[in-house]
Amino acid sequence: MAQNEKPTALIMIFGATGDLAKRKLFPSLFRLYEKNKLGDFAVIGVARRSLSNEEFHASVSQSIHNETSDQEKIKEFSSKFYYHSHDVTDSDSYASLNKIAEELDNHYQLNGNRIFYLAMAPEFFGTIAEHLKIDGLTDTNGFKRLVIEKPFGHDLESAKKLNKQIRTAFSEDEIYRIDHYLGKEMVQNIEVIRFANALFEPLWNNRFISNIQVTSSETLGVEERGRYYEKSGALRDMVQNHMLQMVSLLAMEPPISLTTDEIRSEKVRVFRALRPIKGSEVKDYFVRGQYDKGLMNEKEVPAYREEDMVNPESNTETFVAGKLMIDNFRWAGVPFYIRTGKRMEAKTTKIVVEFKDIPMDLYNRQEGSVNPNLLVIHIQPEEGITLYLNAKKTGQYMNSTPVKLSYANKGIDGLNTPEAYEKLLYDCLRGDATNFTHWDEVALSWSFVDNISEVWENEKEQNFPNYESGSMGPKAADDLLEKEGHFWWPVTNLDVEKC
Ligand code: BG6
Repeated sequence: MAQNEKPTALIMIFGATGDLAKRKLFPSLFRLYEKNKLGDFAVIGVARRSLSNEEFHASVSQSIHNETSDQEKIKEFSSKFYYHSHDVTDSDSYASLNKIAEELDNHYQLNGNRIFYLAMAPEFFGTIAEHLKIDGLTDTNGFKRLVIEKPFGHDLESAKKLNKQIRTAFSEDEIYRIDHYLGKEMVQNIEVIRFANALFEPLWNNRFISNIQVTSSETLGVEERGRYYEKSGALRDMVQNHMLQMVSLLAMEPPISLTTDEIRSEKVRVFRALRPIKGSEVKDYFVRGQYDKGLMNEKEVPAYREEDMVNPESNTETFVAGKLMIDNFRWAGVPFYIRTGKRMEAKTTKIVVEFKDIPMDLYNRQEGSVNPNLLVIHIQPEEGITLYLNAKKTGQYMNSTPVKLSYANKGIDGLNTPEAYEKLLYDCLRGDATNFTHWDEVALSWSFVDNISEVWENEKEQNFPNYESGSMGPKAADDLLEKEGHFWWPVTNLDVEKC
């Protein structure tokens, strides 16, 4: 689809009374609408409870009230929303949904284009996809696309089963598996920073890079998601998807072109080169943590084991640190350290690329060694890049001191970058699947993660809880790097704004 062409479609949101729809999907659609990026469209909100169209409009209006003060615009936008009370296992319910869909298609001239967005409990994904086919909803003249939220399965086996079910109704290129990190502006920027700069790409390999560190830390605890999280843990919740996706973008070869297929196939090659970590090796490469109580913003917060819906003797990890090795020509010998957790010191996602030391330090013989060059990619909350170089320390003598070159992404036009969901929805409407995960990526990342969870599930961690809320995780995560002569760069001090 051409860049300025406006997409037309009927969007069916399953789970329309849920949190994701209200917090992310309605506001994102509204922003696209306000920016005049949408052609003709209508939305059917699908959920179990019974609601009138008017009640649904009120809920949509409520969820976008922070976006504008223009009440007319809100009314105009909400009027395109319709509600269908639905039973996901009942064919009659799908038949009446199809009837509404056909009417709206005629009324709004939507060319039979349909998007089915599953923003609900994953146990129903497969059933819904199968019914969409059996009950005729996918039988349309326009395009049909399935957007599916994570988790995509619980392990490789369950992911395969789910994939088989949805493939009965949709082909691989009609399936848009969301990883919202791929919609983040600075995650998308990794590729441009790497491939549009003569400065970086020649150095982007094991001859010049010492190690790469990817940290995604959160201050929130498990909140009201205890039931889900108990079965998931940080490894499945964050590593299998977001963390590995960022690693693949950092490590992939330059694609031949920017098409979806070319980019995905380069990412898949990274997953294929990822060294599998199994059995007794797991403890040498991975560290797990679970938060204890502690002080956050001077307020006492409970330990994970005291949270709602959490087993008081839970063995679930809320923190993971790991060393990934990518066994290919470019990366042999370079560790990719990843770390993610809840109830940590700061909410931040950062990538630190640490370059190797220069062969000899001419300038700091008296004062210790010269700092390595670092490229820091700030994903969130601030967005930008910082390059740490060394320059002459002002004064009489020839000593060096670290200096920073910074670029804050918001600096250019002062606007917030679009939210991940806004971009991803727009991509899907336009048929661009580049920033969604292909089945091959899902399968390979599950098989990597399954080896680790198998060990962790069988060997209870005796030291849980092992990090205080408000800290940067357990000490073992520091030891993981120290034993190789590395250390975690203190990401909380690397803000672009502070430069
Ligand atoms: C989700 C996880 O995928 O990502 C959550 O399920 C986590 O547990 C969230 O909090 C983090 O996303 P972000 O965009 O806030 O970093």
